[in-house]
Amino acid sequence: MIDLEKIPEHVAIIMDGNGRWAQNRNLPRMAGHNAGMMAMKEIIKAASALGIKHLTVYAFSTENWKRSSEEVSGIFKLLIIYVEKELNELHKNNVKVRILGHYDRLPKEAVKSLERSLATTKDNTGMQFNIALNYGGRDEILRSVKNLAMKVEQGSLKADEITEGDIADNLYTSGIPDPDLLIRTSGEMRLSNYLLWQSAYSEFVFSDVLWPDFTKEEFEKAIEVFQNRKRRFGGR
Ligand code: IPE
Ligand code: IPE
Ligand code: MG
Repeated sequence: MIDLEKIPEHVAIIMDGNGRWAQNRNLPRMAGHNAGMMAMKEIIKAASALGIKHLTVYAFSTENWKRSSEEVSGIFKLLIIYVEKELNELHKNNVKVRILGHYDRLPKEAVKSLERSLATTKDNTGMQFNIALNYGGRDEILRSVKNLAMKVEQGSLKADEITEGDIADNLYTSGIPDPDLLIRTSGEMRLSNYLLWQSAYSEFVFSDVLWPDFTKEEFEKAIEVFQNRKRRFGGR
């Protein structure tokens, strides 16, 4: 049973296994991404119903450009379809959308519909749904370091006085608490460049289920596992 008093504030997910899901069914990879979108819809609903404040999903990494151009453009097309179809529902549920990553490198159409989702939901006060898109943890840290170096160059910041807070404030996630729980599906046990700085003390839960098969019940199971963990943050 989930303890409603101990709901994680921030859950981050690596939605992995769409390709294998499709392969298992002799379907094209895009069918897997499509089914993955459906799973994401359900998890957003479930997370918001549980009172989770931040749900962050890894939708496209800085390394995913290595895939075929067909798959890459297919994923972005799907994203546009998702936003067009779901924006009303998200808005109705008071969800606020935020993008983490250098998303203006995406095709113009995708950028346009994403920006519409940001504008529409900007004053919403319910769950924040963070989409990591063209996101890479190292890229994000590099960008933060460059911002700070620029300030040092301009004389508004002393190198010696840079704090962890300064680095965090210049990440895409500025203002978002670190993830309490990080879930990865499909049996892979690695971070793949996701939230490197932010996951310093996250609890990791790995599920063998492929992302398109990840249901509300699987999600709730992961939260239960989290609730039975003992977090120490280096203390005793
Ligand atoms: C995750 O599923 C979705 C994205 C990376 C966009 P994959 O496409 O990585 O699925 P597998 O790992 O090949 O099964
Ligand atoms: C991580 O999954 C990226 C997303 C889920 C968007 P990958 O499938 O790209 O990661 P690797 O290649 O297995 O490490
Ligand atoms: Mg994968």
